[in-house]
Amino acid sequence: MSILAIDQGTTSTHALLVGSSGIQTTAKTLEHQQFYPKAGWVEHDPEELIQNIRCCIDSCDDIQAIGIANQGESCLAWDADSKRAISPIIVWQDNRTQLTIDKLKSEKQQQRVLELSGLPLDTYFSATKLRWIIDNIPAAKELLQRGKLRLGTTDSFFLDRFTGHFATDISTASRTSLMNLHTGQWDEELCHIFGVPMEVLPEIVSTTGDFGAVESKGRVIPITASIVDQQAALYGHGCINNGDAKITFGTGAFALVVTGATPEQSPNQGLLPTVAWQLKGQPPIYALDGGIFSAGSAINWARSLGLFQEYSQIQHFETNSAIERDLAFVPALSGLGCPYWDRTAGGLWIGLSLHTRAADLVQSILEGIAFRAAEVINSMNEFVSIKEVISIDGGLAANPYLCQFLADVLSRQVTVQSSTELTAYGTACLAAEGEFEPYPIKDSTKKYLPQTNRDSQLLKFQTAVSRAADWRL
Ligand code: G3P
Repeated sequence: MSILAIDQGTTSTHALLVGSSGIQTTAKTLEHQQFYPKAGWVEHDPEELIQNIRCCIDSCDDIQAIGIANQGESCLAWDADSKRAISPIIVWQDNRTQLTIDKLKSEKQQQRVLELSGLPLDTYFSATKLRWIIDNIPAAKELLQRGKLRLGTTDSFFLDRFTGHFATDISTASRTSLMNLHTGQWDEELCHIFGVPMEVLPEIVSTTGDFGAVESKGRVIPITASIVDQQAALYGHGCINNGDAKITFGTGAFALVVTGATPEQSPNQGLLPTVAWQLKGQPPIYALDGGIFSAGSAINWARSLGLFQEYSQIQHFETNSAIERDLAFVPALSGLGCPYWDRTAGGLWIGLSLHTRAADLVQSILEGIAFRAAEVINSMNEFVSIKEVISIDGGLAANPYLCQFLADVLSRQVTVQSSTELTAYGTACLAAEGEFEPYPIKDSTKKYLPQTNRDSQLLKFQTAVSRAADWRL
Protein backbone atom coordinates (compact mmCIF):
# COMPACT_ATOMS: atom_id res chain seq x y z
CA MET A 1 0.00 0.00 0.00
CA SER A 2 1.33 3.44 -0.93
CA ILE A 3 -0.04 6.51 0.81
CA LEU A 4 0.53 10.10 -0.21
CA ALA A 5 0.59 12.45 2.77
CA ILE A 6 0.36 16.14 1.98
CA ASP A 7 1.39 18.56 4.71
CA GLN A 8 -0.11 21.86 3.63
CA GLY A 9 1.63 24.14 6.15
CA THR A 10 2.13 27.85 6.72
CA THR A 11 5.21 28.22 4.55
CA SER A 12 5.12 25.23 2.21
CA THR A 13 3.23 22.25 0.88
CA HIS A 14 5.16 19.08 1.49
CA ALA A 15 4.40 15.66 0.05
CA LEU A 16 5.61 12.37 1.51
CA LEU A 17 5.04 8.95 -0.03
CA VAL A 18 4.85 6.12 2.43
CA GLY A 19 5.17 2.69 0.86
CA SER A 20 4.45 -0.74 2.24
CA SER A 21 6.25 -1.41 5.54
CA GLY A 22 6.40 2.32 6.21
CA ILE A 23 9.31 3.23 3.90
CA GLN A 24 9.19 6.95 3.21
CA THR A 25 10.17 8.97 0.17
CA THR A 26 9.97 12.72 0.06
CA ALA A 27 7.99 13.48 -3.06
CA LYS A 28 7.95 17.27 -3.21
CA THR A 29 8.20 20.51 -1.27
CA LEU A 30 6.66 23.63 -2.76
CA GLU A 31 6.90 26.98 -1.00
CA HIS A 32 4.17 29.54 -1.42
CA GLN A 33 4.05 33.31 -1.13
CA GLN A 34 3.30 35.09 2.11
CA PHE A 35 1.33 38.31 1.70
CA TYR A 36 1.47 41.04 4.35
CA PRO A 37 -0.93 43.68 2.99
CA LYS A 38 -1.00 45.68 6.25
CA ALA A 39 0.70 45.51 9.63
CA GLY A 40 -0.56 42.38 11.40
CA TRP A 41 -2.25 40.95 8.30
CA VAL A 42 -1.00 37.64 6.85
CA GLU A 43 -2.58 36.09 3.77
CA HIS A 44 -2.07 33.21 1.33
CA ASP A 45 -3.42 32.85 -2.18
CA PRO A 46 -5.97 29.98 -2.16
CA GLU A 47 -5.34 29.14 -5.82
CA GLU A 48 -1.59 28.88 -5.24
CA LEU A 49 -2.19 26.32 -2.48
CA ILE A 50 -4.66 24.37 -4.65
CA GLN A 51 -2.09 24.30 -7.46
CA ASN A 52 0.64 23.11 -5.10
CA ILE A 53 -1.50 20.30 -3.70
CA ARG A 54 -2.51 19.33 -7.23
CA CYS A 55 1.14 19.28 -8.26
CA CYS A 56 1.99 16.97 -5.32
CA ILE A 57 -0.78 14.56 -6.28
CA ASP A 58 0.01 14.56 -10.02
CA SER A 59 3.70 13.97 -9.42
CA CYS A 60 3.11 10.60 -7.70
CA ASP A 61 2.22 7.26 -9.23
CA ASP A 62 0.61 4.22 -7.63
CA ILE A 63 -1.08 5.93 -4.72
CA GLN A 64 -3.82 4.01 -2.93
CA ALA A 65 -4.96 6.83 -0.65
CA ILE A 66 -4.21 10.43 0.29
CA GLY A 67 -4.10 12.15 3.69
CA ILE A 68 -3.95 15.94 4.05
CA ALA A 69 -2.70 17.93 7.04
CA ASN A 70 -3.71 21.57 7.24
CA GLN A 71 -2.60 24.81 8.94
CA GLY A 72 -5.34 24.71 11.55
CA GLU A 73 -7.07 28.04 12.07
CA SER A 74 -6.36 29.64 8.65
CA CYS A 75 -9.64 30.14 6.79
CA LEU A 76 -11.40 31.63 3.76
CA ALA A 77 -14.66 31.97 1.81
CA TRP A 78 -15.64 30.54 -1.55
CA ASP A 79 -18.53 30.15 -3.95
CA ALA A 80 -20.54 26.96 -3.47
CA ASP A 81 -21.15 26.62 -7.23
CA SER A 82 -17.84 27.52 -8.85
CA LYS A 83 -15.75 26.45 -5.80
CA ARG A 84 -13.59 29.52 -6.50
CA ALA A 85 -12.30 31.42 -3.50
CA ILE A 86 -13.74 34.90 -3.00
CA SER A 87 -11.31 35.86 -0.24
CA PRO A 88 -7.64 35.32 0.45
CA ILE A 89 -6.75 32.72 3.04
CA ILE A 90 -6.53 34.65 6.30
CA VAL A 91 -3.67 32.95 8.06
CA TRP A 92 -3.69 31.91 11.72
CA GLN A 93 -1.01 34.53 12.48
CA ASP A 94 -3.20 37.38 11.20
CA ASN A 95 -4.53 39.74 13.87
CA ARG A 96 -6.76 42.06 11.84
CA THR A 97 -9.71 41.19 14.09
CA GLN A 98 -8.18 42.43 17.35
CA LEU A 99 -10.84 45.15 17.74
CA THR A 100 -13.60 42.54 17.42
CA ILE A 101 -11.89 40.44 20.07
CA ASP A 102 -11.59 43.49 22.35
CA LYS A 103 -15.30 44.23 21.84
CA LEU A 104 -16.31 40.65 22.67
CA LYS A 105 -14.15 40.82 25.79
CA SER A 106 -15.78 44.09 26.84
CA GLU A 107 -19.17 42.40 26.36
CA LYS A 108 -17.97 39.72 28.83
CA GLN A 109 -18.19 36.88 26.30
CA GLN A 110 -14.82 35.37 27.24
CA GLN A 111 -16.10 32.95 29.87
CA ARG A 112 -19.00 31.63 27.78
CA VAL A 113 -16.81 31.12 24.70
CA LEU A 114 -14.31 29.31 26.84
CA GLU A 115 -16.95 27.03 28.39
CA LEU A 116 -18.41 26.07 25.03
CA SER A 117 -15.40 25.94 22.70
CA GLY A 118 -12.60 25.44 25.22
CA LEU A 119 -10.75 28.38 23.62
CA PRO A 120 -10.01 31.90 24.87
CA LEU A 121 -11.01 34.93 22.80
CA ASP A 122 -8.09 35.55 20.46
CA THR A 123 -7.52 36.54 16.85
CA TYR A 124 -5.62 33.24 16.38
CA PHE A 125 -8.81 31.22 15.94
CA SER A 126 -11.00 31.25 12.82
CA ALA A 127 -14.32 32.64 14.11
CA THR A 128 -13.59 36.38 14.01
CA LYS A 129 -11.71 35.97 10.73
CA LEU A 130 -14.77 34.35 9.15
CA ARG A 131 -16.99 37.17 10.39
CA TRP A 132 -14.47 39.70 9.03
CA ILE A 133 -14.87 38.14 5.58
CA ILE A 134 -18.66 38.54 5.67
CA ASP A 135 -18.37 42.16 6.81
CA ASN A 136 -15.61 43.24 4.45
CA ILE A 137 -15.83 41.26 1.23
CA PRO A 138 -18.91 42.32 -0.78
CA ALA A 139 -19.02 39.04 -2.72
CA ALA A 140 -19.42 37.17 0.58
CA LYS A 141 -22.55 39.15 1.51
CA GLU A 142 -23.97 38.67 -1.95
CA LEU A 143 -23.36 34.90 -1.91
CA LEU A 144 -24.76 34.67 1.60
CA GLN A 145 -28.00 36.29 0.45
CA ARG A 146 -28.24 33.80 -2.43
CA GLY A 147 -27.47 30.84 -0.15
CA LYS A 148 -24.24 30.12 -2.05
CA LEU A 149 -21.59 31.17 0.46
CA ARG A 150 -19.14 28.68 1.90
CA LEU A 151 -16.91 29.52 4.84
CA GLY A 152 -14.33 27.24 6.35
CA THR A 153 -10.81 26.36 7.30
CA THR A 154 -8.44 25.50 4.44
CA ASP A 155 -9.10 21.73 4.68
CA SER A 156 -12.78 22.19 3.85
CA PHE A 157 -11.87 24.34 0.83
CA PHE A 158 -9.39 21.75 -0.46
CA LEU A 159 -11.84 18.89 0.05
CA ASP A 160 -14.76 20.72 -1.55
CA ARG A 161 -12.63 21.67 -4.53
CA PHE A 162 -10.96 18.29 -5.05
CA THR A 163 -13.74 15.88 -4.10
CA GLY A 164 -16.97 17.92 -3.87
CA HIS A 165 -17.26 16.84 -0.21
CA PHE A 166 -17.86 19.96 1.90
CA ALA A 167 -16.48 18.68 5.18
CA THR A 168 -13.98 19.43 7.91
CA ASP A 169 -12.52 17.00 10.37
CA ILE A 170 -13.28 17.41 14.06
CA SER A 171 -9.68 18.32 15.00
CA THR A 172 -9.72 21.27 12.59
CA ALA A 173 -13.24 22.30 13.59
CA SER A 174 -12.04 22.40 17.21
CA ARG A 175 -9.69 25.27 16.24
CA THR A 176 -12.41 27.63 14.98
CA SER A 177 -14.07 28.68 18.29
CA LEU A 178 -17.38 27.71 16.70
CA MET A 179 -17.43 24.01 17.62
CA ASN A 180 -18.84 22.87 20.93
CA LEU A 181 -16.00 20.86 22.39
CA HIS A 182 -18.38 18.59 24.26
CA THR A 183 -20.72 17.70 21.38
CA GLY A 184 -18.22 17.84 18.51
CA GLN A 185 -20.74 19.88 16.48
CA TRP A 186 -21.13 23.53 15.50
CA ASP A 187 -22.66 25.41 18.40
CA GLU A 188 -25.62 27.71 17.82
CA GLU A 189 -24.69 30.07 20.65
CA LEU A 190 -21.06 30.35 19.54
CA CYS A 191 -22.11 31.03 15.94
CA HIS A 192 -24.43 33.74 17.27
CA ILE A 193 -21.73 35.32 19.46
CA PHE A 194 -19.30 35.51 16.53
CA GLY A 195 -21.95 36.34 13.90
CA VAL A 196 -21.15 33.38 11.66
CA PRO A 197 -24.20 31.71 10.08
CA MET A 198 -24.08 28.01 10.85
CA GLU A 199 -25.51 27.00 7.48
CA VAL A 200 -22.44 28.17 5.57
CA LEU A 201 -20.07 25.93 7.55
CA PRO A 202 -18.91 22.46 6.46
CA GLU A 203 -20.11 19.19 7.94
CA ILE A 204 -17.93 18.03 10.85
CA VAL A 205 -16.69 14.47 10.34
CA SER A 206 -14.10 12.15 11.90
CA THR A 207 -10.39 12.50 11.08
CA THR A 208 -10.23 9.25 9.15
CA GLY A 209 -12.84 7.89 6.78
CA ASP A 210 -14.26 8.69 3.38
CA PHE A 211 -13.55 12.28 2.30
CA GLY A 212 -14.36 11.56 -1.34
CA ALA A 213 -11.94 10.97 -4.19
CA VAL A 214 -9.65 13.12 -6.30
CA GLU A 215 -8.93 12.52 -9.99
CA SER A 216 -5.34 12.55 -11.14
CA LYS A 217 -3.92 11.37 -14.48
CA GLY A 218 -6.96 9.19 -15.17
CA ARG A 219 -6.94 7.62 -11.69
CA VAL A 220 -9.42 8.18 -8.88
CA ILE A 221 -7.71 8.29 -5.48
CA PRO A 222 -9.63 8.37 -2.19
CA ILE A 223 -8.78 10.91 0.51
CA THR A 224 -8.96 8.97 3.77
CA ALA A 225 -7.60 11.37 6.39
CA SER A 226 -7.74 15.11 7.07
CA ILE A 227 -6.26 16.69 10.21
CA VAL A 228 -4.57 19.77 11.68
CA ASP A 229 -0.80 19.63 11.16
CA GLN A 230 0.07 19.83 14.88
CA GLN A 231 -2.26 16.97 15.71
CA ALA A 232 -0.83 14.96 12.80
CA ALA A 233 2.65 15.55 14.19
CA LEU A 234 1.46 14.40 17.63
CA TYR A 235 0.32 11.13 16.07
CA GLY A 236 3.48 10.86 13.99
CA HIS A 237 5.62 11.25 17.14
CA GLY A 238 3.87 8.18 18.51
CA CYS A 239 2.15 10.28 21.18
CA ILE A 240 -1.01 8.23 21.42
CA ASN A 241 -1.26 7.48 25.15
CA ASN A 242 -2.36 9.84 27.90
CA GLY A 243 0.51 12.05 29.03
CA ASP A 244 2.55 11.64 25.81
CA ALA A 245 3.74 15.10 24.73
CA LYS A 246 5.55 16.64 21.79
CA ILE A 247 6.77 20.08 20.82
CA THR A 248 7.17 21.06 17.18
CA PHE A 249 9.52 24.00 16.65
CA GLY A 250 8.46 25.62 13.39
CA THR A 251 7.49 29.26 12.74
CA GLY A 252 6.06 29.09 16.23
CA ALA A 253 6.44 26.28 18.76
CA PHE A 254 3.45 24.08 19.42
CA ALA A 255 3.26 21.72 22.37
CA LEU A 256 0.52 19.11 22.58
CA VAL A 257 -0.14 16.44 25.18
CA VAL A 258 -2.65 13.60 24.78
CA THR A 259 -5.33 13.75 27.48
CA GLY A 260 -7.62 10.89 26.45
CA ALA A 261 -11.34 10.49 25.88
CA THR A 262 -12.61 13.61 27.66
CA PRO A 263 -11.60 17.22 27.05
CA GLU A 264 -9.44 18.67 29.81
CA GLN A 265 -10.74 22.13 30.67
CA SER A 266 -7.90 24.25 31.99
CA PRO A 267 -9.37 26.73 34.45
CA ASN A 268 -6.70 29.39 33.90
CA GLN A 269 -7.56 29.71 30.19
CA GLY A 270 -3.95 29.36 29.27
CA LEU A 271 -4.02 25.92 27.70
CA LEU A 272 -6.29 24.91 24.88
CA PRO A 273 -8.32 21.74 25.14
CA THR A 274 -8.56 20.51 21.57
CA VAL A 275 -9.48 17.40 19.61
CA ALA A 276 -6.38 15.38 18.75
CA TRP A 277 -8.14 13.10 16.27
CA GLN A 278 -11.16 10.88 15.88
CA LEU A 279 -10.64 7.58 14.13
CA LYS A 280 -13.58 6.41 12.03
CA GLY A 281 -16.29 4.83 14.19
CA GLN A 282 -14.51 5.68 17.44
CA PRO A 283 -14.93 8.48 19.99
CA PRO A 284 -12.65 11.53 19.77
CA ILE A 285 -9.30 11.63 21.55
CA TYR A 286 -8.46 14.98 23.10
CA ALA A 287 -5.26 16.88 23.73
CA LEU A 288 -4.13 20.02 25.48
CA ASP A 289 -2.41 22.46 23.18
CA GLY A 290 -0.09 25.34 23.95
CA GLY A 291 1.29 27.53 21.21
CA ILE A 292 4.12 30.04 21.28
CA PHE A 293 3.80 32.28 18.27
CA SER A 294 7.49 33.10 17.70
CA ALA A 295 10.17 30.41 17.61
CA GLY A 296 11.82 29.77 14.23
CA SER A 297 10.46 33.15 13.13
CA ALA A 298 12.44 34.85 15.93
CA ILE A 299 15.66 33.13 14.81
CA ASN A 300 15.03 34.03 11.17
CA TRP A 301 14.34 37.59 12.23
CA ALA A 302 17.68 37.70 14.09
CA ARG A 303 19.39 36.45 10.95
CA SER A 304 17.64 39.05 8.82
CA LEU A 305 19.02 41.70 11.19
CA GLY A 306 22.52 40.37 10.56
CA LEU A 307 23.05 39.01 14.09
CA PHE A 308 24.41 35.82 12.52
CA GLN A 309 24.85 34.45 9.00
CA GLU A 310 24.86 30.65 9.12
CA TYR A 311 22.84 28.36 11.37
CA SER A 312 26.08 26.51 12.13
CA GLN A 313 27.23 29.64 14.02
CA ILE A 314 24.50 29.34 16.65
CA GLN A 315 24.77 25.68 17.65
CA HIS A 316 27.15 26.19 20.57
CA PHE A 317 28.26 29.19 22.59
CA GLU A 318 31.54 29.57 24.41
CA THR A 319 30.14 31.69 27.20
CA ASN A 320 27.82 30.87 30.11
CA SER A 321 24.14 31.10 29.34
CA ALA A 322 22.91 34.61 28.57
CA ILE A 323 20.42 34.49 31.44
CA GLU A 324 23.25 33.75 33.89
CA ARG A 325 24.80 36.96 32.60
CA ASP A 326 21.49 38.76 33.25
CA LEU A 327 20.53 38.99 29.59
CA ALA A 328 17.05 37.74 28.65
CA PHE A 329 14.98 37.87 25.52
CA VAL A 330 11.19 37.47 25.58
CA PRO A 331 10.15 36.19 22.13
CA ALA A 332 6.82 38.02 22.10
CA LEU A 333 7.31 39.23 18.54
CA SER A 334 3.65 38.47 17.76
CA GLY A 335 2.46 38.87 21.34
CA LEU A 336 2.52 36.21 24.03
CA GLY A 337 0.59 33.01 23.35
CA CYS A 338 0.06 30.23 25.84
CA PRO A 339 -0.41 30.51 28.80
CA TYR A 340 -0.65 34.35 28.82
CA TRP A 341 -2.67 35.16 25.67
CA ASP A 342 -1.50 38.75 25.65
CA ARG A 343 -1.40 40.13 22.13
CA THR A 344 -0.35 43.52 23.44
CA ALA A 345 2.95 42.11 24.71
CA GLY A 346 6.04 43.13 22.76
CA GLY A 347 9.34 41.34 22.15
CA LEU A 348 11.86 42.42 24.75
CA TRP A 349 15.57 42.29 25.46
CA ILE A 350 16.49 43.14 29.00
CA GLY A 351 19.93 43.35 30.54
CA LEU A 352 21.73 44.90 27.56
CA SER A 353 25.09 46.47 28.29
CA LEU A 354 28.04 47.87 26.39
CA HIS A 355 29.52 44.35 26.56
CA THR A 356 26.60 42.69 24.80
CA ARG A 357 27.66 41.13 21.49
CA ALA A 358 25.55 39.90 18.59
CA ALA A 359 26.22 36.29 19.65
CA ASP A 360 24.86 37.03 23.14
CA LEU A 361 21.68 38.38 21.61
CA VAL A 362 21.15 35.22 19.56
CA GLN A 363 21.98 33.02 22.53
CA SER A 364 19.34 34.84 24.56
CA ILE A 365 16.78 34.33 21.79
CA LEU A 366 17.37 30.55 21.83
CA GLU A 367 17.08 30.54 25.61
CA GLY A 368 13.91 32.65 25.47
CA ILE A 369 12.29 30.14 23.11
CA ALA A 370 13.28 27.25 25.40
CA PHE A 371 11.99 29.08 28.49
CA ARG A 372 8.66 29.79 26.80
CA ALA A 373 8.31 26.15 25.68
CA ALA A 374 9.09 25.04 29.23
CA GLU A 375 6.45 27.41 30.61
CA VAL A 376 3.89 25.72 28.39
CA ILE A 377 4.90 22.18 29.35
CA ASN A 378 5.01 23.11 33.04
CA SER A 379 1.49 24.56 32.90
CA MET A 380 0.25 21.44 31.10
CA ASN A 381 1.79 19.30 33.79
CA GLU A 382 -0.51 20.93 36.33
CA PHE A 383 -3.47 19.28 34.61
CA VAL A 384 -2.08 16.14 33.04
CA SER A 385 0.74 14.06 34.32
CA ILE A 386 3.18 14.43 31.42
CA LYS A 387 5.48 11.49 30.77
CA GLU A 388 9.15 11.90 31.61
CA VAL A 389 10.32 12.12 27.99
CA ILE A 390 9.34 15.07 25.77
CA SER A 391 9.59 14.35 22.05
CA ILE A 392 10.51 17.29 19.83
CA ASP A 393 10.84 18.02 16.12
CA GLY A 394 11.00 20.91 13.66
CA GLY A 395 13.83 23.10 12.39
CA LEU A 396 15.07 24.28 15.79
CA ALA A 397 15.18 20.69 17.10
CA ALA A 398 18.41 20.49 15.08
CA ASN A 399 19.97 23.12 17.37
CA PRO A 400 21.86 21.35 20.19
CA TYR A 401 22.05 24.46 22.35
CA LEU A 402 18.28 24.89 22.33
CA CYS A 403 17.69 21.17 22.98
CA GLN A 404 20.09 20.96 25.94
CA PHE A 405 18.77 24.20 27.41
CA LEU A 406 15.21 22.90 27.07
CA ALA A 407 16.10 19.62 28.82
CA ASP A 408 17.71 21.66 31.63
CA VAL A 409 14.78 24.03 32.10
CA LEU A 410 12.26 21.19 31.96
CA SER A 411 14.37 18.84 34.13
CA ARG A 412 13.27 16.14 31.71
CA GLN A 413 14.75 14.11 28.93
CA VAL A 414 14.23 15.71 25.54
CA THR A 415 14.40 13.40 22.55
CA VAL A 416 14.75 14.51 18.97
CA GLN A 417 13.02 12.14 16.61
CA SER A 418 15.16 10.90 13.74
CA SER A 419 12.51 11.70 11.17
CA THR A 420 12.00 15.27 10.04
CA GLU A 421 8.73 14.24 8.44
CA LEU A 422 6.55 13.65 11.47
CA THR A 423 3.56 15.74 10.39
CA ALA A 424 3.38 14.04 7.02
CA TYR A 425 4.17 10.63 8.46
CA GLY A 426 1.44 10.98 11.12
CA THR A 427 -0.98 11.97 8.36
CA ALA A 428 0.03 8.92 6.33
CA CYS A 429 -0.42 6.61 9.33
CA LEU A 430 -3.94 7.97 9.80
CA ALA A 431 -4.77 7.77 6.08
CA ALA A 432 -3.57 4.18 5.98
CA GLU A 433 -6.08 3.34 8.72
CA GLY A 434 -3.73 1.47 10.97
CA GLU A 435 -1.55 -0.03 8.25
CA PHE A 436 1.60 1.73 9.54
CA GLU A 437 2.61 2.29 13.13
CA PRO A 438 3.51 5.77 14.40
CA TYR A 439 7.06 6.18 15.73
CA PRO A 440 7.62 5.00 19.26
CA ILE A 441 8.55 8.06 21.33
CA LYS A 442 11.79 6.53 22.53
CA ASP A 443 13.00 5.62 19.04
CA SER A 444 15.09 8.72 18.49
CA THR A 445 18.58 9.55 17.36
CA LYS A 446 19.38 12.19 19.94
CA LYS A 447 18.60 12.33 23.63
CA TYR A 448 19.32 15.31 25.87
CA LEU A 449 19.36 14.69 29.60
CA PRO A 450 19.06 17.54 32.09
CA GLN A 451 22.52 18.71 33.22
CA THR A 452 22.07 22.08 34.89
CA ASN A 453 19.32 23.17 37.25
CA ARG A 454 17.79 26.29 35.75
CA ASP A 455 14.79 26.78 38.07
CA SER A 456 15.95 30.16 39.36
CA GLN A 457 16.78 31.24 35.80
CA LEU A 458 13.24 30.39 34.73
CA LEU A 459 11.92 32.59 37.53
CA LYS A 460 14.19 35.40 36.37
CA PHE A 461 12.96 34.94 32.79
CA GLN A 462 9.39 35.18 34.03
CA THR A 463 10.19 38.58 35.54
CA ALA A 464 11.25 39.65 32.06
CA VAL A 465 7.99 38.24 30.65
CA SER A 466 5.99 40.34 33.08
CA ARG A 467 7.79 43.42 31.76
CA ALA A 468 6.98 42.53 28.15
CA ALA A 469 3.27 42.20 28.95
CA ASP A 470 0.58 44.84 28.31
CA TRP A 471 2.96 46.87 26.15
CA ARG A 472 1.00 47.89 23.05
CA LEU A 473 -2.05 49.20 24.85
O1 G3P B 1 -1.86 26.71 14.68
C1 G3P B 1 -1.06 26.92 13.57
C2 G3P B 1 -0.19 25.73 13.28
O2 G3P B 1 -0.97 24.57 13.14
C3 G3P B 1 0.65 26.01 12.06
O3 G3P B 1 1.65 25.07 11.93
O4 G3P B 1 3.56 24.05 10.80
O5 G3P B 1 1.87 25.30 9.45
O6 G3P B 1 3.43 26.54 10.94
P1 G3P B 1 2.71 25.24 10.71
